[in-house]
Amino acid sequence: MLSLHDFTPQQIAFMLDFAAQLKRMQKQGEPHALLQGQTLGMIFQKSSTRTRVSFEVGMYQLGGHALFLSSNDLQLGRGESIADSGRVLGRYLDGIMIRTFAQSDVEELAEYASVPVINGLTDLLHPCQILADLLTVQEHKGRLAGLKMAYVGDGNNICHSLLYGCAKTGLHISVASPEGYLPREEIVAAARQDALETGASVTITTRPEEAVSGADVLVTDVWASMGQESEQQARMKVFAPYQINDRLAALAAPDYIFLHCLPAHRGEEVAAEIIDGPHAVVFDEAENRLHAQKAVMALLMGK
Ligand code: CP
Ligand code: NVA
Repeated sequence: MLSLHDFTPQQIAFMLDFAAQLKRMQKQGEPHALLQGQTLGMIFQKSSTRTRVSFEVGMYQLGGHALFLSSNDLQLGRGESIADSGRVLGRYLDGIMIRTFAQSDVEELAEYASVPVINGLTDLLHPCQILADLLTVQEHKGRLAGLKMAYVGDGNNICHSLLYGCAKTGLHISVASPEGYLPREEIVAAARQDALETGASVTITTRPEEAVSGADVLVTDVWASMGQESEQQARMKVFAPYQINDRLAALAAPDYIFLHCLPAHRGEEVAAEIIDGPHAVVFDEAENRLHAQKAVMALLMGK
């Protein structure tokens, strides 16, 4: 699973329903050891709290096992090629999750590893996060199609995967980013293509008020992603008018929900009054990483 763009709307709907079913089973203590005896390798070239823990716990709950593989300790970090690493790891593992910089590295790993590869975040995309986000919206709003989501902030990996995720599920999405930080044009074009099938609309603007107007779901993300630490100061200035706060949220639907993939920076992309307020569902969202990824792993790796 490298990108949500590669799946049909029916497949995504199925993954979400299956995730909801696995969540119910786990809450009720029903056994669901669908990956008994299997091992997932988890390659991390960037930091993580949620992705690491939710994949590892998810494998355990499915009756399998997960290996944390830091690129600092792998020969990958000393120059062994992705192709050779993939060929070797495919001989030991039943699946590989990778968090890295270039999307092309994940694609190359998937080409050479003989087992399923799951994108655990690249500079371009974060599909597992967006499955969890969609599951969270579905739980809180009872549906996806026909709702309006506003993403306000950097046109980054989260924004790109939201564009695909919304387009594939019929959720209207409006993105507001500053000039120079808009989502990539080829992703917007591909999402618009996806949206033809579901009737979703994809709107890109530089005006946050326009994006948020009447929205059922507000979303933002950090202004400087992992790997962009040196741009932090410059970005703080450019993004200041894009903070989600009471003033902006007043334009949303009265019963809007607020999502953030976390980690969050209170006082930057989101005001404390919003993320710690009654509309925020960010911890349900974080929990749903576990359930969504269990569904993905069981479907990709299950016999
Ligand atoms: N949202 C998310 O992917 O969090 P981590 O970076 O902690 O994995
Ligand atoms: N856009 C953020 C998401 C972190 C989960 C980053 O890439 O750092």
